[in-house]
Amino acid sequence: MSSNLDQLYRQVIMDHYKNPRNKGVIEDGSLTVNLNNPTCGDRIQISMDVEDGKIKDAKFDGEGCSISLASASMMTQSIIDLPVDEALRLSKVFSDMMQGKEYDDGDLDLGDLESLQGVSKFPARIKCATLAWKALEKGVYEKDGEQQ
Ligand code: FES
Repeated sequence: MSSNLDQLYRQVIMDHYKNPRNKGVIEDGSLTVNLNNPTCGDRIQISMDVEDGKIKDAKFDGEGCSISLASASMMTQSIIDLPVDEALRLSKVFSDMMQGKEYDDGDLDLGDLESLQGVSKFPARIKCATLAWKALEKGVYEKDGEQQ
């Protein structure tokens, strides 16, 4: 990665960290989930309003490092207005990206998430970047379980 791109990506990450998008809690949301990063004890909460299989709104809250909070901010930004299954597909693409695998983003818009690509080179930080996404998956699968 060129150092200019690297610098640009760092700026995008810091912008999300300092000016988080969708920070807070949806009080009457249909889905709320908390997840800890076992390696550091940091915690993230994702709340969403899901209606007819679509994520109408999403917010995050919690404590964590710049990578985890920036990733949560970017995640909420990307999943609002997506059908739940598309959000899960995006989560898989992001997970592949974090593991340094080839990923097929197809028609999905990665947007600012691309700025986190470099995290894949730092294995200790991958859990930070994927924390919000794991919370999203946990919330969706637990909710599915409830309905069965
Ligand atoms: Fe705790 Fe990154 S160090 S989430």
